Amino acid sequence: MTTAIAHSNIALVKYWGKRDSQRNLPAAGSLSLTLDGLTTTTTLRDGDRDTVSLAGEPAPAPFAARVAAHLDLVAQQLGVERPPIAVDTANNFPTAAGLASSASGFAALTLAAVTHFGHTIPDVQLADLARRGSGSAARSIFGGWVELDAGTDELGRDTTTRQLAVPSHWDLRCVVLATTRGAKQTNSTDGMNLTATTSPYYGAWVASVDADLDEARAAVFQRDFERLATVAERSCMRMHASAIAADPAILYWNAATVELIHRVRAHRAAGHPVFFTIDAGPHVKVLCPPDEVAAVRDLASDVITQLLVAAPGHGARVVEPA
Ligand code: DP6
Repeated sequence: MTTAIAHSNIALVKYWGKRDSQRNLPAAGSLSLTLDGLTTTTTLRDGDRDTVSLAGEPAPAPFAARVAAHLDLVAQQLGVERPPIAVDTANNFPTAAGLASSASGFAALTLAAVTHFGHTIPDVQLADLARRGSGSAARSIFGGWVELDAGTDELGRDTTTRQLAVPSHWDLRCVVLATTRGAKQTNSTDGMNLTATTSPYYGAWVASVDADLDEARAAVFQRDFERLATVAERSCMRMHASAIAADPAILYWNAATVELIHRVRAHRAAGHPVFFTIDAGPHVKVLCPPDEVAAVRDLASDVITQLLVAAPGHGARVVEPA
C-alpha cells in the first residue's frame, strides 16, 4: 500500500491552452503558488481489478477512466508491467462546489504510482509525468512558488517545471471565496480547447504570457506585492477575456464573482494589499498578507457561500510507507 499527498496550487500567470493535446503540452508557461490548506490524499493497493473511489464512494466512470489511463501512462514510462490497482482518493476540501482541483489529484496520483511501482525519480520528472495527467498538476509536485516553462520542442523535451522559491520565501495567504455551492461548469480542458479553436483573441492571449511570466517571476523574487498584484490580475483578466470571446462564449463568472472583483479592486485602491484571481469557475481567490485576511472576510461575507484560507504549501510527498 502506498499513500501520497499533494496540495492544490493557484496560478498567478495562467495556463490556458495546449500546443499538443496528445502529450498535454501547454501553449505557454505558467506560474503558481502551492497552497497548504487544499490537500488530496491518494492511496494505491494491488487489487483484483482496477477500482477508483473518490471520498469513499465509487468514482464516476469518466473520472475512473482518467485515473486508470494515467496509471497506464506512468507504468509505461517507467517500463513496468502494472497490476490491477485499487485507488482511493479524497480531498480535504469540498469537491462538489467546483473547488476540486485536478492539480492536487494528479500530483498525488503520480507520486503514489511511481512509488508503488518501486521507483524513485527526480521531482522534475515527476512533474513531467503529472503534467500528462493535468497541466496544472506539474506545479503541485513542488512547494512554494513554481514556474512551468512551456518550451518549444515539439516532443516537449524542454517543457519543465521548477521551484522558484520555497514556501517560507513570502508569507502570503490565499483566501478562497466560493460564490456558489453547485453547478457544473465547462471543465478547464474543454474550456481551453474551445478557446483555442474559436476565440479570435486566443493568439493574442498566448503571445502575452511570456512578458507576464518575466514580470511575475521578478515580483516574486523581490516580494513586490503591488507588482505581483498588477500582473496576476492582468493574466487572469486576459485568460477570461480569451474565453469570453470563444464561440459559444465561455463565461465562468456569476454576479457574485463580478461583485467581488469590484470590491477587491476598491479595497486595493483604498491602500490595502489584496488582489484577486479566478480559475475555470465562479469562485474568487484573493491573495494578501496574513493580517489582511479578516478584512477580506468582511468585504466578502454577504455574497459568498464558503471561505477557505490557505498558506504557502510544500510539494507532493509520500506518507505511507513512511
Ligand atoms: C484555469 O490543468 O485543469 O486553472 O491540462 O487540461 O488538465 P488540463 O487543464 P488544467 O487547467 C488549469 C487551468 C486554470 C489555470 C491554471 O491552473 O494555470
